[in-house]
Amino acid sequence: MGVSRIIEEAIERVRPSAGERRKVQAAVDDVMAKVKDQAKDAPYNLDVMLVGSAAKDTYVFPPDLDVFVLFPPQVPRSELEKRGLGIGRRVLGGEERYAEHPYIHGKLRGFKVDIVPCYAIDDPSELQSAVDRTPFHTDYIISHLKPEQHDQVRLLKQFMKGIGTYSAEAKVQGFSGYLVELLILRYGDFQGVLEASKDWGEGMALSLADGAVRRFASPMTFYDPVDPERNVASALSLQNMALFIRASREFLARPDIRFFFPRPHSVWSRSRASREMGRRGTRLIAVQLARPDLTDDNLYPQARKTLDGMQSTLEAAGFIVLDRCFQVRAGKVDLIMELQTDRLPATVRHLGPPVTSQHSAQFLEKWNEEAVVRPYIENGRWMAIIRRPYSDAKELLSHELHKAGLGSEMKGLEGLRVLSHQQLMKQGPLSSITALLDKTAPWER
Ligand code: CTP
Ligand code: MN
Repeated sequence: MGVSRIIEEAIERVRPSAGERRKVQAAVDDVMAKVKDQAKDAPYNLDVMLVGSAAKDTYVFPPDLDVFVLFPPQVPRSELEKRGLGIGRRVLGGEERYAEHPYIHGKLRGFKVDIVPCYAIDDPSELQSAVDRTPFHTDYIISHLKPEQHDQVRLLKQFMKGIGTYSAEAKVQGFSGYLVELLILRYGDFQGVLEASKDWGEGMALSLADGAVRRFASPMTFYDPVDPERNVASALSLQNMALFIRASREFLARPDIRFFFPRPHSVWSRSRASREMGRRGTRLIAVQLARPDLTDDNLYPQARKTLDGMQSTLEAAGFIVLDRCFQVRAGKVDLIMELQTDRLPATVRHLGPPVTSQHSAQFLEKWNEEAVVRPYIENGRWMAIIRRPYSDAKELLSHELHKAGLGSEMKGLEGLRVLSHQQLMKQGPLSSITALLDKTAPWER
């Protein structure tokens, strides 16, 4: 089937129906009235503004409702937080969330709602809190997006959701809603963005106007039209940028509705996982930790950092890491690595100083006794063959992982369990094993 036929079918599915629009409108009216009612008790004027995709009409149903409460800039930060969260809590009940900025998250009429306090600044360059630009973003998109481009935004969002690159939150490290909107403005429509991405490269920069000069070290830069000092794509990882480029090429070559709506990911059976490991001839090793009680925005960066610590512990001890991944499950975080081998020889070559060096005596004193093969000379330097501190990956991680750089809430290694290859294959979590081994893209399932 041709590209335009598939695009038409996808538009049909992402464009909200009249009934869905009515539900959204009723919920918006309800939450706005409630927030305004709570906001009028303040001793100064508070503006209440609907922002995000419900305000811009760029949502894929069901949208979350993003409601901002705008405080005068002279109000102290602590007062903004206290009063802003109070308003949110009285409207939603809800729970307090704190990533970079505090807000209340809850539900109303079946929709997820965020009530977020911010400062009403005059110019986006004068921002006082992390989210003060958001009202400017909303205004910019409302005034620049053409009527026919709204569905193009929905299409690109759904494509990105389908391939797993949508959302700037730390869990995903993908494209934000605002970035998707800017891409549609930049390239005109959905297909234009996909075509253009064929020529994208790491370190590229995009903008909608001249004048942006600052360089960012990100894989992709999109200068914010409301504040050229900011990169809208700062959260995007190279992995997700590359995945989007690949998906675009493959979609244009072989269009398929599955790019937008992939089949659910099936977990491999134990025998399938064993067969695969037999084929590869490599070994797995896993670390299991209790899941710290953190929001995803805090948990995922810490899990990544802990994964890095696990890898460097293994590599420093001589193991070769071929692949790695982590999975957050109910109550647990699994960290898994594929190793070339999980058992190393009992001994290792240990390089000493040049024979001419003054440190020679020290080296000889230490290793003449202890080494398995006493110091000898190779290429002008001392060399000894010594016993490895750890030749078994499981033993190494059980004893040494706590010394690595780990996520701050994972440093304690609460609930630590190290699973050897055999243990993993026999009783390890198949969802996590599949996540590591299954390299098929979502649209290929
Ligand atoms: N925002 C925020 N803090 C929140 C929720 C939203 O700062 N707790 C801001 C975001 O920075 C963004 C806007 O509000 O500029 C809307 O956020 P989001 O819901 O992520 O994007 P949308 O454009 O609404 O896209 P989607 O359709 O995915 O909801
Ligand atoms: Mn939203």
